[in-house]
Amino acid sequence: MNPLSDIKGRAEIERLVDRFYEKVRADDLLGPIFNDIAKVDWSSHLPKLYAFWQAVLFRDGGFKGNPIGVHFKLLSETSMDWPRFQRWLDLFRSTVDEMFTGEHAAHIKNTAEDMAHVIYSRINNVLDPRFDPANLTPAQRARYAKYPEVASA
Ligand code: HEM
Repeated sequence: MNPLSDIKGRAEIERLVDRFYEKVRADDLLGPIFNDIAKVDWSSHLPKLYAFWQAVLFRDGGFKGNPIGVHFKLLSETSMDWPRFQRWLDLFRSTVDEMFTGEHAAHIKNTAEDMAHVIYSRINNVLDPRFDPANLTPAQRARYAKYPEVASA
């Protein structure tokens, strides 16, 4: 038996992201968006995602990007509806749970969930009252206070 441990730094983030996108590429709903529509260049996309999650967990990694804009552009070629985000989240959560356990593992899953709601509602122009700053729960408020500012390119 090999008990799981937490995400400790860049090495674990790389293993997690690599495994997650292996699953995404093979997925019937999400695979075609990455493989056929965006025709993602994995050699540049994966390092960007390592940096993104490193910024979320450890406030470094040098991520520069525009996550809302990138996903918004996909709308002209595919639906970005909630079932797709739900699938993304299911794959992300199950990959984290297969590989890690602990505080960072929990934080990365919470952040993914928050980001999925924010990206979905912003690009589809669906206002979600749960994420209105006026309606945040104390737990959400505490979590958001820990997020780093993400620089735009
Ligand atoms: C339906 C769900 C989603 C789909 C189909 C999707 C698809 C994509 C695609 C095609 C790209 C562009 C890749 C490239 O051309 O290099 C991208 C970039 C990215 N995605 Fe997603 N994504 C989804 C959800 C999410 C979620 C929930 C997060 C965050 C937790 C996320 C984080 C990112 C980031 C950080 C980038 C890089 C942004 C940049 O280059 O500025 N994605 N995604």
